[in-house]
Amino acid sequence: MAQSFVKIINEWDIVAARQLGRNVAKELGFGTVDQARITTTISELARNIYLYAGNGRIIVQKIENEKVGLQIIAEDNGPGIEDIAKVMEDGYSTSGGLGAGLPGVKRLMDEFNIESIPGEGTVIQVIRWLR
Ligand SMILES: Nc1ncnc2c1ncn2[C@@H]1O[C@H](COP(=O)(O)OP(=O)(O)OP(=O)(O)O)[C@@H](O)[C@H]1O
Ligand SMILES: [Mg+2]
Repeated sequence: MAQSFVKIINEWDIVAARQLGRNVAKELGFGTVDQARITTTISELARNIYLYAGNGRIIVQKIENEKVGLQIIAEDNGPGIEDIAKVMEDGYSTSGGLGAGLPGVKRLMDEFNIESIPGEGTVIQVIRWLR
């Protein structure tokens, strides 16, 4: 499984992670609408890392088995999330944001998994299937 990643330390890294996602999506044969879903997802996850955890990384992986798709893993060693159900609600934000990021990502992707341990960090794994 081909894999690459971008460390998220500053806001420019968010742009780099988006570009990585777009390139891998193109290589796999995703159309422009799915490329936009993928770059939007990476933006939201990377922006959350930058805002709430300070730093972390975005991993982009091709899945080329019986099913073909693109997997994104966003991981950080930030403060973690106490109540996962709450952060998945539309409109819940601790930063005065829209609180649309995580529920939006869940709608944009086919698979969505979130694991978080308060005081240790957060891992969010999503997949968009091509076929
Ligand atoms: N990586 C993370 N580490 C710790 N807390 C997080 C992380 N990502 C999200 N959160 C928490 O989940 C809440 C909801 O995130 P979400 O992205 O849905 O909304 P938001 O960032 O507040 O606003 P928006 O993304 O719409 O601008 C955040 O306000 C924050 O409290
Ligand atoms: Mg957000």
